[in-house]
Amino acid sequence: MLFGFAAQTPNLPAPLANDLAKLSSASNISVIYKFRVVGESPTEYKLSLGRPKMFKLASDTGFVQSDGKTLYTYTKSSNSFTETPLTDEALAEFTKKPEVFAWAAFLQKEPANDIAVARAGTTRNVAGNDVTEVEVTMKKGGIVSTLYLDKKLGIARGYALKQGDKQYLAAASELTVKTDPADAKPESFAFSAPDGAKKVEPAAAAAGSYADVQTILNDNCMPCHSANNMAAGIDLSNYNGVKAVVTPGNAAGSRLIMSLHASGGSRMPKGRAPLSAASEATIVAWINAGAKK
Ligand code: HEC
Repeated sequence: MLFGFAAQTPNLPAPLANDLAKLSSASNISVIYKFRVVGESPTEYKLSLGRPKMFKLASDTGFVQSDGKTLYTYTKSSNSFTETPLTDEALAEFTKKPEVFAWAAFLQKEPANDIAVARAGTTRNVAGNDVTEVEVTMKKGGIVSTLYLDKKLGIARGYALKQGDKQYLAAASELTVKTDPADAKPESFAFSAPDGAKKVEPAAAAAGSYADVQTILNDNCMPCHSANNMAAGIDLSNYNGVKAVVTPGNAAGSRLIMSLHASGGSRMPKGRAPLSAASEATIVAWINAGAKK
């Protein structure tokens, strides 16, 4: 048997078995690549993977990083970061991101177990590199992907991924694979906060600010709940008015949130389309974080 992996998973085509074997035996991988949701503009990412359970995924807007024990998420716009334990669930969630799909197997114990079907296609030359196409259908999540496996390195140079009605494309401009355990370099995954960055609690980080909430209310609840219109005596045009219909720390028990789920004609915004899930989540998180100004 050529590859150790092929013994356990006889259905994998050789280039894919080779790719998974290469990923599992690498000590360190770094990739610089363009990633895009089809129909949107691309983002440049830098991904580094190390052992054990170390990673960093960075873009212009921030990064997510694990030193093997703790997960740090840094957001540039607010110059703040959160710090949470790297649980198995948090690791699994990271490896499922469409942004890291082809390379995440590096962090997984038995990546082949997640694959339902895989078929090798043609070999092509992409930007000067010979690549073999392998189409992979995952067991979960309705994910179908075409991997472009580099003939020389054995691992993916890029991939196309389809999940639901979303399509993604990733294409590496730089790809480095190290196999010497001496190159694992755990110290390069040690977190150091960017200049002046503040640590925030995860709940507060997820919560929209009052300004975000007010914008949503202005867009959806006016003119009915303005200072000169006050339907049901409620003014949602300012903080005190909003505060009167929320219970800080208890979104579900807040009149404002209940009104979004009231039945029939009393559902808010009255006579209009319901709030988007994202808008409602912003308000819920803000209330649960204390409904602060
Ligand atoms: C088109 C006008 C209109 C819009 C838009 C509207 N409301 Fe209302 N709202 C009303 C009226 C009228 C009432 C009085 C109760 C009724 O008629 O159902 C009311 C009642 C309420 C109540 C009191 C329910 C109770 O008895 O506890 C809340 C809370 C509320 N609205 C929140 C909102 C929020 C939040 C939005 C925006 C997301 C919104 N409304 C958008 C007209 C509107």
